[in-house]
Amino acid sequence: MTMSKGVGAGLRHLLTLADLTPQSLLALLDRAQVFRTHPHNTTAFRHLLAGHAVCGLFFEPSTRTRSSFQLAAQRLGADVLHFDVATSSAGKGESDVDTLRTIEAMGVQGFVVRHPREGAVAELAGHAGPGTAVINAGDGRHAHPTQALLDMLTLRQAKGADFSRLRVLIVGDVRHSRVARSAVQALRMLGCAGIRVCAPEALLPDDEALAGSEITQDFDAAIASVDAVMMLRLQRERMQDGVVASLDDYRRDYRLDARRLGLAAPDAVVLHPGPINREVEIASDVADGPQSLILQQVANGVAVRMAVLEALLAPGTDRAE
Ligand code: CP
Repeated sequence: MTMSKGVGAGLRHLLTLADLTPQSLLALLDRAQVFRTHPHNTTAFRHLLAGHAVCGLFFEPSTRTRSSFQLAAQRLGADVLHFDVATSSAGKGESDVDTLRTIEAMGVQGFVVRHPREGAVAELAGHAGPGTAVINAGDGRHAHPTQALLDMLTLRQAKGADFSRLRVLIVGDVRHSRVARSAVQALRMLGCAGIRVCAPEALLPDDEALAGSEITQDFDAAIASVDAVMMLRLQRERMQDGVVASLDDYRRDYRLDARRLGLAAPDAVVLHPGPINREVEIASDVADGPQSLILQQVANGVAVRMAVLEALLAPGTDRAE
């Protein structure tokens, strides 16, 4: 790579995208693209984090984020600690901070942390030792920075590097979505001015995170001519009963089906962070159809997480490739 500074220069933790500049965000996407397209990407980079150790602390379930961080760390040559919160001494009352410090004392320098509470990952980072990096793998509804990075990489692969004219629609359970908050932050950093957000009133954001986006409850109107539709999972685990009174009404008004996708630009692409509630927020024929990039997002997740781990644990190695 030809950058004058390594991707991770000065980056200590990745807690939100506010830890990045637009330039360092772009550099991470460039680096992820190298990892994604290298013909021997499962073996060629195993020297980069040799001698490092990475641990996932997932206080909430995960399939994609947890597995892709694990593969990413392995493909960079790091030791990976499979820490299972459910069978750990957390069950005996050990605090999250003591858990982190205990694993840290074993020589682990990288922690990938998911937590149901907003701000909990940043709090843990505040207790980490000086040589330790903490990556937010999702905290409550606050932030999911590596999801946003993989979403941006996927959009860039499909639509090119100029985000300024891109029209992106984010639909669904915006209120409870860390994915939406981080995606909007990333889109803004990349210069996207055409951000629309669509949800029923009860699921619209109740904070300032999405201020400046065009907000509507009318899906058919919002989807007209957009270049990308980012569907969100209905997060029933974060809702109080009754927030969505009727799933049938939700399907009727907010499910992306083939008819609605036909209102978007003809070459519009469909993203979803997963896991999918099939036939709730998205019809199966759309999720599995030719305009869907959902599995491309998953594949990009490994490459993005390789770039993030390298930037935090071995900054500057990208210049040597
Ligand atoms: N998108 C996402 O964070 O998926 P997981 O919950 O499976 O990690």
